[in-house]
This record gives sequence, structure tokens and C-alpha cells, in this order.
Amino acid sequence: MAVALAAVAATTRSILLRDVDHRVDRLLTQEAGEFTNFVDQGVDPATGERFTDPRRLLEVFLERQYADPDEELIGLVRREGQGPAQLTQPRELSVRHPLHRDPAARRAIFAASGSTGTLDRRSGELRWAKVEVARHGDEPEAAFVVAFHPRAEQAKANDVFRILLAISGVALVLTTGIAWAVAGRILKPVRLVRTAAAQLTEQDLTRRIPVHGKDDIAALADTFNGMLDRLERAFAAQREFVDDAGHELRTPITIVRGHLELMGGATESAAEREETVRLVTDELDRMSRIVEDLLLLAKAERPDFIRPEPVQLAELTADVFVKARALGERRWELAEVADSEARLDPQRITQAMVQLAQNAVQHTVPGGRVRVGSRLTDGRIELYVADSGPGVQAQDAEVIFERFRRGTSRRGARTSGAGLGLSIVRAIARGHRGEVLLRPTDGGGATFVLVLEGQT
Ligand SMILES: Nc1ncnc2c1ncn2[C@@H]1O[C@H](COP(=O)(O)OP(=O)(O)OP(=O)(O)O)[C@@H](O)[C@H]1O
Ligand SMILES: [Mg+2]
Repeated sequence: MAVALAAVAATTRSILLRDVDHRVDRLLTQEAGEFTNFVDQGVDPATGERFTDPRRLLEVFLERQYADPDEELIGLVRREGQGPAQLTQPRELSVRHPLHRDPAARRAIFAASGSTGTLDRRSGELRWAKVEVARHGDEPEAAFVVAFHPRAEQAKANDVFRILLAISGVALVLTTGIAWAVAGRILKPVRLVRTAAAQLTEQDLTRRIPVHGKDDIAALADTFNGMLDRLERAFAAQREFVDDAGHELRTPITIVRGHLELMGGATESAAEREETVRLVTDELDRMSRIVEDLLLLAKAERPDFIRPEPVQLAELTADVFVKARALGERRWELAEVADSEARLDPQRITQAMVQLAQNAVQHTVPGGRVRVGSRLTDGRIELYVADSGPGVQAQDAEVIFERFRRGTSRRGARTSGAGLGLSIVRAIARGHRGEVLLRPTDGGGATFVLVLEGQT
């Protein structure tokens, strides 16, 4: 703004100065023209004849003229051996050093070859125009000179410039003050957001920014709060996960330690020792399974978790069926197979299906029916394991897919696993941009279905 205001003031000044220049030019041309006319047509009022004496001509002309302010009209007549004699109108000027008191300037103008010019004297600029009357060698016989002192006019332009600068300065101070206040008001919510963000720590994500109004800042605060919600949830989930994992691992450790502390007593028989070793090995197996499952779940976040390749669904289903059959004495049935090719990760799909088959075995009695199959519905692939067990209770249907969550219908203490199986199945399904769904089996039992995209 300072630059713009200064530019405006400077431009105004130069326009005004150019104006003065033009005006002076016009004035000089006009006065010179009048004199030229008089030379051509004027007659001496005393004789009624044309002028013969240049001095008389100048005298008569000057008598009839009125000079403008800052203007001087002077007649100059050649004198042998010294500067020209001058004829002037008796008149005081406001300028400090007028031409009729400046013989050096008069001489210079009289001798100058041009008809107009500018004298840059120390006492001020002087613009002049000259009309010569007959020449005499180097110098004219006589000359009419009109001189103008533009200093006063230029001073007016400079006054305007200074006034403009002063006004600009005041305007600048005012606008700076207003801009400061307004920017402060606008940025206040931003500062609020910043302070709130600075006060957040990993431990305390509960702080929220108050949202007022409906402007962009409010939207920003809203977005920020939403992000905090997600962060808080993510941190909470993380903490919960670590808590659960720690808890799940602590139980087998406690059991192993208990058994080992009891070992080596004097009364211990070989059979007892064997039993202890079996129990301890069992718990260690369980621990390593949990750790492996956790590692697998952690890996599920990585982009190379699923490596799809063209797979014949019929073949894949048959493989899964063969592997599932080895899990326990059940009435295994290969219900149906989709005869199609798909882009899937066969290892991960098999892993998921085996988890489902394992669950089916855990929730059925020996001789119970378990069906494994695959089919195409609406262009999507469905792979399923349907058992004839007790099924999943309605209140468990959602939670069993979460990590470390087991159903409430479970009887007995810690017979089954850690509750990671279905989370692994879900991670594998989502890795294929699919889902795992729970449906009831006709005639009782649970059916878990992998619904996948990936058909080629
Ligand atoms: N076929 C099924 N029939 C009835 N309930 C089931 C079946 N499959 C899973 N569930 C319920 O879902 C819960 C979670 O299963 P999930 O496979 O995730 O864990 P888990 O089998 O208990 O342990 P893990 O698989 O880690 O060894 C089970 O505890 C059980 O209550
Ligand atoms: Mg399981």
C-alpha cells in the first residue's frame, strides 16, 4: 500500500509539472506571436507610418502589453561594445532574481541563436522566448524577449505532492491499524486451533476445539476435531490390543511357571513329571500360536499381505476340503464347487478357510456334519464352511470378528483359542477387497462365508 500511495503521489506530481510546462510553452508562443504580428502590421501612432526604429517599435509594443504574473516582457536593443540596453515595463515580480535585474542572463538570451530556451540559474529556472528585429552580424539589432519564472507554479505542484504524501501517510497508519485489528480477529480462531493442538499429547487426546459459526475456520476446527476423534479411537484400539495381547500371553506364562515350580519335588513320580511336561508344552504351543497369529495380523497392514494370482476355484475348494478333513472326525462334505478362474491369493484363502473349518470342528461333536463349498453369486465368489453346531448367538454376531473376542456361549474355560481366528479371516477377506459374513445353516448351525471380488 505504501508503494502504491507513493506511486500515486509521484505520478500526480509529474502530471502537474508537465501541465505547468505546457502552459508556459503556450504562453511564450502566444506572446511571441503577438509581437511578430505587431512587427508585421503595427504602425507608429505618432506618425501613422510603419516603424523604422526598432527601439520605438519595442517601446510602443511594450506600452500596450500587460504581463501575466511571473512573466516579464522586455525589449532589448543592441549597444556597441556592451550588453544590450533594455526597455521594460516598470513592474515588481515576486521572484527573487528577475530578468530585468540580471544583465548576464539578458546578454546570454540576446546572443542565443535559438528563439526559445531555458536558463538554469542558481536563483531559479527561467523559460524564455525571443523575437528578433533585424540582424546586425552576430547579434540582432533589437529583440523582444518574454521570460517566465515557472518556480511558483512548480512549487504548487510540489505542494500538492507533499499534501498527497501526508494524506497517504495518515491513510497508511489508519489502514495498518485497522488491518491489524481485523487480521487479529480473523486469526483468533486459528490461534485457538494452534493452542489446542499444542496442548494435545499422546496421553491426552480428549481436548477439543470449540466450534462457532459456519465459516471456513469453523470447518477447520470441525475437521481438526474429527481427526482427533479418529486419533483417539486409534490410540484406544492400540492400547486395548496391547492390553489384550499382554493379558492373553500372561495366562499361559502363569500356568507354565506354576507347573515348573511344582516340578522336581521328592515325591514326584515319573508319570506326574510326564504330565507336567505335557501341560507345559501345551501352554507353550498355545503361546507360540498366539504370537504367530498376532504377527500375521500385524502383517495384514502391509500392502504385500495378499499376493493375488490366477486360481482355479474348483481346485482351490478341493484342496481346502482335503486339508479341513484332517482336522477332526466329522461328516465332511464337499457341497459344491464353482467352476471358474479367479485372481486370489490361494495360500491366504486356504489359511482363512482352515481357520473356519477349525472353528467348525470346535463347535461340533464328532460325527457332526460340516460342509465346505464354493459358488458364484452376482459375479462374486463365495467360499463357505457350514457346520451343524449350536450356531452363534445374536449378540455375538458382530463382536466375534474382533481381536481376542470370543463368544459368550462358550462352555468350559480355556479350551478354545485366543479369539484371533476370525480376525485373521476378516483381514484376509478385506485384503481381497471382500468380507466375511455369518449366516445361519439350514437345520441349525453357523455358516461362515468369504465373499470376494476377484473373478476374472
Ligand atoms: N462355527 C462356529 N460356531 C459357533 N460359534 C463360533 C464358530 N466359529 C466361531 N465361533 C465363535 O466366535 C468366537 C471367535 O472365534 P475365533 O475363531 O475368532 O476365536 P477362537 O476360535 O475362540 O480362537 P482361535 O481361533 O484364535 O484359536 C469363538 O470364540 C466362538 O464363540
Ligand atoms: Mg478359531
